[in-house]
Amino acid sequence: MAFDDLLDRMRVEWDARARENGKYYIANCREDWTEEEFYSSGEQTVAQEILTDMYNICQGKAPEAMSVLEIGCGAGRVTRALAGVFGEVHAVDVSGEMVAQARKGLSGRPNAQVYRNNGADLAVLGAREFDFAFSTCVFHHIGSLEVIETYVREVHRLLRPGGLFKFEVQGFLGMTADKEGTWYGLPFSDPDAVAMAERCGFEARYRVGAGEERFWLWYFKK
Ligand SMILES: C[S@@+](CC[C@H](N)C(=O)[O-])C[C@H]1O[C@@H](n2cnc3c(N)ncnc32)[C@H](O)[C@@H]1O
Repeated sequence: MAFDDLLDRMRVEWDARARENGKYYIANCREDWTEEEFYSSGEQTVAQEILTDMYNICQGKAPEAMSVLEIGCGAGRVTRALAGVFGEVHAVDVSGEMVAQARKGLSGRPNAQVYRNNGADLAVLGAREFDFAFSTCVFHHIGSLEVIETYVREVHRLLRPGGLFKFEVQGFLGMTADKEGTWYGLPFSDPDAVAMAERCGFEARYRVGAGEERFWLWYFKK
């Protein structure tokens, strides 16, 4: 499938999921999220993955002085919690329907901005510089190495030198990537994760969860 056709398919299919039951497709441990519980699950994600890791994320900078990038924000579940910690948050998602839900969820948080992007690059953000970049439960749904690697190169373009891109990929190697679909993402082995970092100008300094569904990567810009 041509690259642009795959990106169109991502937008169409995620728009459909957002219209059907966005919160369920974002966090499919339940179908009947209340607004409050859904956003509180984002606070938990930030408590677990961000607040425990401020040494690597902030590197001595005050969180309120930091500008943060999020890829694949969905309905703003994590974006909203990030906006409570950091000075500015800029988030992208391929789905305009998800972006609309995120903007609703983020009303009253002027330090969080959400953009619909093309599903692979960060051109919508121009040349702005970020101190930290984050993505959770997104690359798990991308079966194309070209798309994932385009994002990694784009984050490298916008991140300040030494800055951290913390994200997760599918680590369970028994999983078959759906190369033309939008649900089953490409699995990465530990050497795959290190090699992608090297190709894109990062050091894959820490990796946790190799072989498991949730394989977290700490890429520091060289
Ligand atoms: C499972 S949801 C997770 C949302 C959010 N990260 C969270 O944890 O609440 C996956 C999100 O990734 C978005 N997405 C999927 N493929 C994408 C792509 N190629 N570029 C940007 N966003 C993408 C979907 O539209 C959806 O909002």
